[in-house]
Amino acid sequence: MKYLKMLFKFSLYFAVAFLFHFSGVNSFITYIEPRHPLRGSRAKPGTPWPLPQRWIQSQKVLSLNSSNFRISSNLKDCDVLTAAIQRYEKFIFADVNGTQNPLLPTLLQVNVFVNETSCAYPQQGDDEYYLLEISSVKQGVIEARTVWGALRALETLSQLVYQNEKTRAYLVNETRIDDWPAYSYRGILIDTARHFIPVSTLKQNLDAMAFNKMNVFHWHLVDDQSFPFESKTFPNLSKYGAYSEKQVYSQTDVKSIIEYARLRGIRVLPEIDSPGHTKSFGKAYPELLTPCYGYNSSTPYVPKYPHFSEAETLNPIEENVYTFMSNLFQELKILFPEKYVHLGMDEVYYECWESNPNIQFFMKVNKMQNTSQLEQYYVGRMLQIMKNIGYKYMIWQDPIDNGVQAADDTIVQIWKDSRLDSKLGEWRESAEIIAKKGYRMVVSACWYLNYINYPYPGKDWENFYECNPRSFNGSNEEKQLVLGGEACLWTEFVDSTNLISRLWPRASAVAERLWTNPQTANLDDARFRLDQQRCRLFRRGIPAAPILNGFCEDYAI
Ligand SMILES: *[C@@H]1O[C@H](CO)[C@@H](O)[C@H](O)[C@H]1NC(C)=O
Ligand SMILES: *[C@@H]1O[C@H](CO)[C@@H](O)[C@H](O)[C@H]1NC(C)=O
Ligand SMILES: *[C@@H]1O[C@H](CO)[C@@H](O)[C@H](O)[C@H]1NC(C)=O
Ligand SMILES: *[C@@H]1O[C@H](CO)[C@@H](O)[C@H](O)[C@H]1NC(C)=O
Ligand SMILES: *[C@@H]1O[C@H](CO)[C@@H](O)[C@H](O)[C@H]1NC(C)=O
Ligand SMILES: *[C@@H]1O[C@H](CO)[C@@H](O)[C@H](O)[C@H]1NC(C)=O
Ligand SMILES: *[C@@H]1O[C@H](CO)[C@@H](O)[C@H](O)[C@H]1NC(C)=O
Ligand SMILES: *[C@@H]1O[C@H](CO)[C@@H](O)[C@H](O)[C@H]1NC(C)=O
Repeated sequence: MKYLKMLFKFSLYFAVAFLFHFSGVNSFITYIEPRHPLRGSRAKPGTPWPLPQRWIQSQKVLSLNSSNFRISSNLKDCDVLTAAIQRYEKFIFADVNGTQNPLLPTLLQVNVFVNETSCAYPQQGDDEYYLLEISSVKQGVIEARTVWGALRALETLSQLVYQNEKTRAYLVNETRIDDWPAYSYRGILIDTARHFIPVSTLKQNLDAMAFNKMNVFHWHLVDDQSFPFESKTFPNLSKYGAYSEKQVYSQTDVKSIIEYARLRGIRVLPEIDSPGHTKSFGKAYPELLTPCYGYNSSTPYVPKYPHFSEAETLNPIEENVYTFMSNLFQELKILFPEKYVHLGMDEVYYECWESNPNIQFFMKVNKMQNTSQLEQYYVGRMLQIMKNIGYKYMIWQDPIDNGVQAADDTIVQIWKDSRLDSKLGEWRESAEIIAKKGYRMVVSACWYLNYINYPYPGKDWENFYECNPRSFNGSNEEKQLVLGGEACLWTEFVDSTNLISRLWPRASAVAERLWTNPQTANLDDARFRLDQQRCRLFRRGIPAAPILNGFCEDYAI
């Protein structure tokens, strides 16, 4: 009986699948169970993801010929644009057997006009607006204020082009798109300390980010577990702190990642987390860490599990710590072309500090009543060091929760949420409080992509999609303090074997929330469009995971 039921289920599946195979869409998804048919409208071929802000569609179809189609631009000396045009011409004509339909008008060229000639490094708040028009009369026109806007336009152009399933003719409809991001900060965090992530995987992820118009790679470089970043000032940090000498990002690697990201309009924001999450520093520099006194004040370096290990947090009463950090961040400032640095500052567990008699003495002398004031002392000095170096900074929300005063232009990243830990409040409550203090924010609390929903993994992307980072209680002005959001991928259970498929296409849901910010989230339609995007990523070499049953037509096997 069970066998028959299954047979029925599968034959129905194949019947439905066959029906749609030749329907002109290049992806197809179906129900999890036949009893729950999918609602919503199937995505038209060539539907861009994330959806543009304004998209005037037309039924008029043009065809393209791979041997005479050209994209040209008014910026002749901008390597970013030149490289992008080459990339996108390849994506548009990826099918070696693609053809032209000679009966349709031909789209011969797209001309790109960029107003600002600056072509250096993307930075927070860059203008990414673009206008894209395709018509048989005027041909293709892209207008953007910055080269970064032009990159987003080229991505859209490459997604608008589709193929006739039978003749394989390259097609594009006449259209006019006015587009800009709802949020200026659209990031992905990757933790390279719990597991080392190879450079090639990081670059593949940058590709996927560009295909989804995301613009910040937040690189959580080091943590308790390992120190894979090569510092020239302190080479022993990675020599002793990395998992192995192979699992180190040399400065050449770092530069090549920054360059790869720049060519795709993506910022690389480095994070060196402190004063917690620093155990790996101690492999080479044990004197930087606070000795913990497990059970009595006469014996240092005694763990008290699970409260603390023998030493794991920087020692805020050691002057050497501040000199060391100053030198390390000066080196970072030269290597990374970013105005911002991420200082971490999350999850300082006070018990080790409290166990240490020297710290107790220091606190007494300095009239500190609790360890929260000691944390403030550390944070205050670090922020002053950053100011001296000329860095703007981003921090996790913890010091602000603890009453620390940071510089006005600090960006505070919201991560705490009751769904991560029942002891934490709902993220909207802390966002409301931090907004009242006037800080700009980046929200991550609803976007921890390392977690998989049980028992409904298929709901994951829907929850990500529905999270509105401005949905806390506050004035309009306070909501505007949210610059965007960031999908976080902590790598306790992730390495190069599953990083890309864990992130994609689930991070695409975050990308559309942050770029388009649809006012009414129609999940039923979005499901089909997301699947089309998943197949698009797949065709471009990104092993993005499926979101439902079904298949991408080119990859039916
Ligand atoms: C493109 O034109 C075709 C043919 O008129 C139409 O069926 C299709 O819906 C159009 N696609 C888009 C994305 O507007
Ligand atoms: C292109 O067409 C040739 C000849 O029909 C066929 O052998 C080949 O597999 C096709 N290539 C692709 C990528 O479809
Ligand atoms: C595509 O353009 C090339 C070069 O101009 C031309 O030889 C070829 O016939 C065109 N293909 C079609 C299908 O029109
Ligand atoms: C570029 O500059 C021209 C002339 O000032 C202006 O008309 C046009 O709107 C600008 N383009 C964009 C995309 O802002
Ligand atoms: C690195 O470690 C080695 C071995 O402990 C030591 O001899 C050397 O002085 C250290 N280098 C620096 C720059 O601290
Ligand atoms: C303090 O703790 C250490 C390690 O647990 C132990 O060896 C030592 O005897 C203790 N000393 C006193 C005075 O209790
Ligand atoms: C720490 O002490 C200060 C000064 O008495 C007080 O304002 C603050 O609320 C205390 N913080 C905590 C977390 O107890
Ligand atoms: C917003 O305020 C209302 C009214 O005080 C309250 O019921 C609601 O729970 C608050 N929402 C959030 C997300 O804090």
